[in-house]
Formats: sequence, structure tokens, C-alpha cells
Amino acid sequence: MKLSQQVIYQIYPKSFYDSDGDGIGDLRGIIDKIPYLQKLHVNMIWFNPFFVSPQNDNGYDIADYYRIDPTFGTMSDFEALVAKLKAVGIGVMLDMVFNHTSTEHVWFQKALAGDRKYQRFYYLRHAKPDGSLPTNWESKFGGPAWSPFGDTDLYYLHLYDPTQADLDWHNPAVRAACADVVNYWRDKGVKGFRFDVINVTGKANQLVDAPKGVASKTLYTDTPVVQDYLRELNAASFGQDANSVTVGEMSSTTIKNSIGYTNPDNHELSMVFNFHHLKTDYVDGRKWSRMPFDFPRLKHLLDGWATGMDAGNGWQALFWNNHDQPRALNRFGDAGRYRVKSAEMLATVIHLMRGTPFIYMGEEIGMTDPDYDSMADYVDIEALNAYRALVRSGYSHADAFTIVKTKARDNSRTPMQWDASAKAGFTTGRPWLRPTNQAKINVADELAHGELFNYYQQLIKLRQTMPIVADGSYQTWRLDDDQVFGYWRQLGSQKLLVLNNFYAAATTVDCPTEMLTAKVLLSNYDEVTIQPKLVLKPYQSLALLLDEN
Ligand code: NOJ
Ligand code: MG
Repeated sequence: MKLSQQVIYQIYPKSFYDSDGDGIGDLRGIIDKIPYLQKLHVNMIWFNPFFVSPQNDNGYDIADYYRIDPTFGTMSDFEALVAKLKAVGIGVMLDMVFNHTSTEHVWFQKALAGDRKYQRFYYLRHAKPDGSLPTNWESKFGGPAWSPFGDTDLYYLHLYDPTQADLDWHNPAVRAACADVVNYWRDKGVKGFRFDVINVTGKANQLVDAPKGVASKTLYTDTPVVQDYLRELNAASFGQDANSVTVGEMSSTTIKNSIGYTNPDNHELSMVFNFHHLKTDYVDGRKWSRMPFDFPRLKHLLDGWATGMDAGNGWQALFWNNHDQPRALNRFGDAGRYRVKSAEMLATVIHLMRGTPFIYMGEEIGMTDPDYDSMADYVDIEALNAYRALVRSGYSHADAFTIVKTKARDNSRTPMQWDASAKAGFTTGRPWLRPTNQAKINVADELAHGELFNYYQQLIKLRQTMPIVADGSYQTWRLDDDQVFGYWRQLGSQKLLVLNNFYAAATTVDCPTEMLTAKVLLSNYDEVTIQPKLVLKPYQSLALLLDEN
């Protein structure tokens, strides 16, 4: 199947299904649940990292790119997983974390032991003449981005946790080593690759301070050389397979650069993730803050990206959720009264757009953030650091907790809720993160009498079977509506109008005259009447299809 017809499902292995009772999901557990994935009918699965890792950042701190962490299973489990998924037509996408390695990686360990070759794999720098750190850059997880390099007088750069040391991509040996990793997994039958924060690899050779008032990330994020690196990696690895599927995780990118990364003429990546739409509930761009989402901004971003990427023949990954984001239902939908309808609406928005939809595990049953009542339940380093920083900056413990509760990455990392039992059917042991609302939201109930899973099946099928959904162009509907986000798709003689009511209040929109004779392709409510004043119920989505032939 062409990429434009595919839907990708994301599994956070630690939280999907635990086969051995240690409270942590594993590869055998995923194998057990293949029938479920088959039922949903997704084309490919992106797995978050399960390589050998001290797990300081849940596997994004890789100590060995070539081996499976024993917590998750063995290489033969992995090979069985690939084979069994292949047998049911599902491809595998692995997470390639190449901006940094764990400080436990042998490259870093050799560097520490004085091996010059491996010292050139990392950014090692001296303190400034006044003894201060090499630059004033901040780590994305809080604190300075430099830590002392062993007992030398050098420091090493880490944009994330101190145990995640940044690789120096200026060094051709680093780039070749990364291509080798990709090729190793390609040989095991892997066709998909996600490249973690790949657009922060393009740092300058001379690392300098960010001027006062300028965020340090603007100095090293999304620089032009990233495209050179990607072209080289493409040619040396996945680009040799015409059916490979790649996605770059792009921090603070632009439409222009994202076209560059994904226009097929450039031979870089199949598609990119951007995060602008997921910052529309940030106060002044700050994650650790709270406000209701800004609907006009959200709409303009979704529309602007879809329009721009279409015009430049770029390709986007479409998503609301992943393992780094609180559940979208709690942010852009209604996790209470209209949980199901708003989940369907959000899904419709992205699944009928131009790009490749990603479903994050549990989204298809309407999972929401857990209801934890103290910091004791949170485990993510980012959340723990943020809580401390908020309190230090003057927030009361209660206010800091409320912010962390709505923003923590743990929100999406809770175990998949298979049934209503105390451990959500996830494990027989003690789950590494506590589920809280499985009595109400779980796979068993959803499959027995829910409508959301079935709605996802319909969306997936529409993309797989309808050329207009897969390949149609994108056009703006009106952007001035107070509560509806709509758009047009067009292919040959067909036109599709997708309307989505983002609120609990019903509303009406003027049906374009030409669409009065259209048919309903999909709606999350029964009994739709096509009339000049179209009525949209709470969180209703409506897709109208017109064939002018
Ligand atoms: C992005 C990943 O999605 C996130 O989970 C991780 O912490 C950072 N990259 C660092 O690897
Ligand atoms: Mg286990």
C-alpha cells in the first residue's frame, strides 16, 4: 500500500501488555495482542525504544542500539514479533535515537577512558576562561546542558538528561555509525524508522552563548545542515528500500523546512512530526503552564500547515497524541460528558486530512489522563524536575501539582486498559504506572458495546480505500467560524467537505450550495440531514462527499 493510504499505530512497549508479570510491558505481550491490532486494521506500528538502556528517560537513553533490553525480551522475541506482524500485513517502525546516547553506551565509556576516537563522538568543551560552563545553554529537562566529563577539566553537552550525551554529527564516523544501526534493523525486516529529535543534530562547530533574552534552542534547532545529514543517511540506509517509511521528529520547525525534509525530490524523509498545534494550550509558549486551548490559533495552525505542505508537496504525520503529550481528549475534547463524541471528532479532524495519521495506543478506546492525587504517582524525570522548578520559582505545592497533573508525560504512559479489573488486565504484577479509570474505559467494554473503536475502524478503512482521502488536495474552508474547524479535499471530480464542531454546544453552518446534493461519507451521529443550514450537534463531525460525474 502507498504511504498515503497507511495508518500507523504507536505502541509504548512499557505500557502495552505485560506477559511475564513484572509490571512492565514486553515484546511477548505485544505478540499476544496482535489480533487486536489486526482488528483495528492498522498498517504499521511504531514502537518506542526497547533497546538496552538504563531507562533514565524510558529508553530514549540508549546504551546499545543493537540489543533488546532484557526487560522487554530477547532478539528472538523481536524476530518473532516482526514475523507475526508481517504475516498479518503489519509493518514495523523502530525509534532511532541518534541525537544522543546514554552515558552508559560503550562509545561514551571509551571516551571517558581517554579514547580519542570516541571523544570525537561527543561535544566535549572546556569551561570559559572565567570558569563558567562552555555555553549558557539549558537542558530541555531543566538545569544546564553541560556536565563535567569524568575527572577531566572538560564538559560534555547534553540537551536532555545528564545521562543523555549529545553525539557530534560533524564527525562522519558518527553519521556512518548511525547508518549502520538503521541497516542492521533493516536486515531484520524493519521498514519503518522514526528519528528522534533529529533536527537538533545540526549544531554549529563553535558553540556559543545564546544572547540575553534569546532561548538557546534557537541556536541549534532546525538548521540547514540537518537536511544534508538526512540526505546522507537516506542514501546510506533506508533510502535503498523504496518501501521504507520514515518520520522525523522535528522540534520547533517551519513549514518551509518541513517541505524540504519531505518533498520526495529531496530524498530525505517520508514525513515529519511538528508540534505547533500542541502548544495552543501553553501560556506564552511555556509548557508548564495552564490555559484552555486557543481554538482560533489551533485552527490557523492546522490549516496553515496543511495548506503549506500541500503547496510544497511535503507530507505531514498527523497526530494528537503520543508518549510525550497528555491525552488530547483532556486538552481539546471533553473527557467527561462527551468523551466518546469528542474523541471521534478529534480523530476525524486528522484522519481525513492530507498526511499520515498516527494513533497512539488507547486513543481508539478513548483513554484519558489518569487521576492521580499526589506527586508520588509520577515517575517521569521531566515531570519531577518541572515540579521542583515550579515550587522553586514560587508556586505553592498545590498549584505546582495542578500544572504537573495536566502536563506530565506520564499521562499518556499509563498502562493500556484491557479490562475493568484492578490492574486493567495489563499485568498480573504491580503495574509500573498506576491505572485509575479502567472501570469506565477499557478494551473489553469498548469492543462489547462501544462505538469509538468501530469509528476508528471506519476512518482507517476510508483512508485505505478512498483515493480522495489518501491523495486529495487540501483547501481551506472558512477560518472565521467560532466553533467549527472545516476543510475541503479534492481529487478529480470528487470533493469532500469535512466539518468538525469543537464544542459541546450545537451549532449551524451554511452548507455550500454545491454540497446540497452531496452524500454523507461519515458522521459520528446518525440521521444527518443535508440542508442549507447544516446542524452540527455537540462535537459532531460530518464528512460530505460530492462526485460531480
Ligand atoms: C523525544 C522523545 O519522544 C522523548 O520521549 C524523549 O525524552 C526525547 N526525545 C529525548 O530523546
Ligand atoms: Mg514484562
